[in-house]
Amino acid sequence: MKGLVLAGGSGSRLRPITHTSAKQLVPVANRPVLFYGLESIAQAGITEVGIVVGDTAAEIKQAVGDGSRFGLDVTYIQQERPLGLAHGVLVAREFLGDDDFAMYLGDNFIVDGIKPFVDEFRRNRADAQILLTRVLDPGAFGVAELDLAGEVVGLEEKPEFPKSDLALVGVYFFTPVIHEAVRQLRPSARGELEITEAIQWLIDSGRSIRSSEITGYWKDTGNVADMLEVNRQVLEGIEPAIEGVVDESSEIIGRVVVGKGTVVENCRIIGPAVVGSDCHVRDAYIGPFTSVADGCRIVGSEIEFSIVLEGSSLENVGRVQSSLIGRRAKVTSSRSVPNSNRLVLGDHSSVQIQV
Ligand code: DAU
Repeated sequence: MKGLVLAGGSGSRLRPITHTSAKQLVPVANRPVLFYGLESIAQAGITEVGIVVGDTAAEIKQAVGDGSRFGLDVTYIQQERPLGLAHGVLVAREFLGDDDFAMYLGDNFIVDGIKPFVDEFRRNRADAQILLTRVLDPGAFGVAELDLAGEVVGLEEKPEFPKSDLALVGVYFFTPVIHEAVRQLRPSARGELEITEAIQWLIDSGRSIRSSEITGYWKDTGNVADMLEVNRQVLEGIEPAIEGVVDESSEIIGRVVVGKGTVVENCRIIGPAVVGSDCHVRDAYIGPFTSVADGCRIVGSEIEFSIVLEGSSLENVGRVQSSLIGRRAKVTSSRSVPNSNRLVLGDHSSVQIQV
């Protein structure tokens, strides 16, 4: 069985951090979301993996390399344009050959991995196996309709009037019959070859489709609360490791990671929390469920339940919580202009100021 990871797409669908070019590299607990997917594929015993890449190929290749770090043998498959998930299957035809495969959307995160579903697929070998999860906004997903016996009878891509709250999770299992289904497709209203339509074709052709419902699913829909929540869940499972330098007046409590080259002076860090490498943390408090990426400066400030991306700094700003701070952002204080805030915010930013 092979793996097919879709990590293409154009730069235009980027959220929630506009400067993050490949959305599959949005960090969760300081690691790209894509890495968790690759790890879960390896854990499930799949080693031969094709990664479909698009405009952001260089970034993805640089991050993943040959895959050996994950125990994978990775082949890159270039997709000229993001013409749809089923188009990803089309361009990977040669790589996939006549093998069964797991298709994994690179921007999806499954908290407990995919091993049980790979095992189930290997045991039952339905023509297609899908994962479903209940969501509040089904219209933003592929939506499944089940009959009373729990069989999937219909799938619709981002319907205006969803027939259920069961969204398709971005992990699918296929036998080679999917290639026949994909060949029948025409571009949808949004101009893509939809994998939902290919699976619908299998249903209509009387093929066997299995589905399982899961919890613990996340996808970057631009919702910061969700991103903080998945960060929290991943931090719950981290192994403590102090590789940087922590001075004697600092206190580290609970599961905390401090990366190489990081200096912590006169701080209190309460885990679970991760501070990346080459950071400077001084006279600061870092509270639970916080991820601080590499090269950040946290000085004279308090932060908790937050994500700070690479190269950002917080200096003398008091307490910050439930926040997502993008790359190379600077948050500082000013005493010279009382009662005013000076903001230079990127597109789609959102800021809450204490009044
Ligand atoms: O995440 C689950 C949802 O993924 C499902 O519920 C939907 O049924 C399914 O169509 C898909 O919806 P999205 O519109 O959210 O997919 P998106 O365009 O974000 O692409 C998902 C991943 O696949 C992402 O890592 C980019 C990659 N991709 C996407 C397209 C359209 C490609 O590699 N090539 C493509 O042509």
